[in-house]
Amino acid sequence: MEVFEINREEELDQLAKYILLNYPDRQVFALYGPLGAGKTTFIKYLSKQLGVVDSVKSPTYTLANVYKTYQNEKIYHLDLFRIKESVEWLDIGVDDYIEDPNAVIFVEWPEKIRDLLPPDRTLMIHINPDPDTQKRKIVILLPDEQENHT
Ligand SMILES: Nc1ncnc2c1ncn2[C@@H]1O[C@H](COP(=O)(O)OP(=O)(O)OP(=O)(O)O)[C@@H](O)[C@H]1O
Ligand SMILES: [Mg+2]
Repeated sequence: MEVFEINREEELDQLAKYILLNYPDRQVFALYGPLGAGKTTFIKYLSKQLGVVDSVKSPTYTLANVYKTYQNEKIYHLDLFRIKESVEWLDIGVDDYIEDPNAVIFVEWPEKIRDLLPPDRTLMIHINPDPDTQKRKIVILLPDEQENHT
């Protein structure tokens, strides 16, 4: 487990670099946090580091966006806020994305598909905003550490 204090949005650039360098075996990035915590924003910074050329916006009508990097790699961005727990994920093909060994997947509201997250390839990123300031505490966990984290 690692904990980072983020005072300004621009600091996410460094943290995105750090995470991608230090967790090279992780392919599924599960972003937890309340509404407006900054999940989409952090996905933008991570995508930028991965060389995404498309503009990163949360999928509104589709649940999933696909981006391309300049090396033509695929990045999937899922926002599961509106799906019912473990009901509709089959429809949006979450399992296909996760089984694709070449894809990078970002998931907002990953608690909806808890059992589908591959333990050996997932990194959990918890964003905890401070209600009184713009600051965020970001906690990085491997799946086996998450079991002990409440
Ligand atoms: N680290 C940060 N520092 C300051 N402001 C931030 C930070 N991260 C995000 N924000 C701002 O907070 C707002 C909400 O961010 P964002 O849309 O990324 O949240 P979210 O967790 O994806 O929300 P939702 O639950 O609706 O998907 C945006 O206006 C964004 O600019
Ligand atoms: Mg979002």
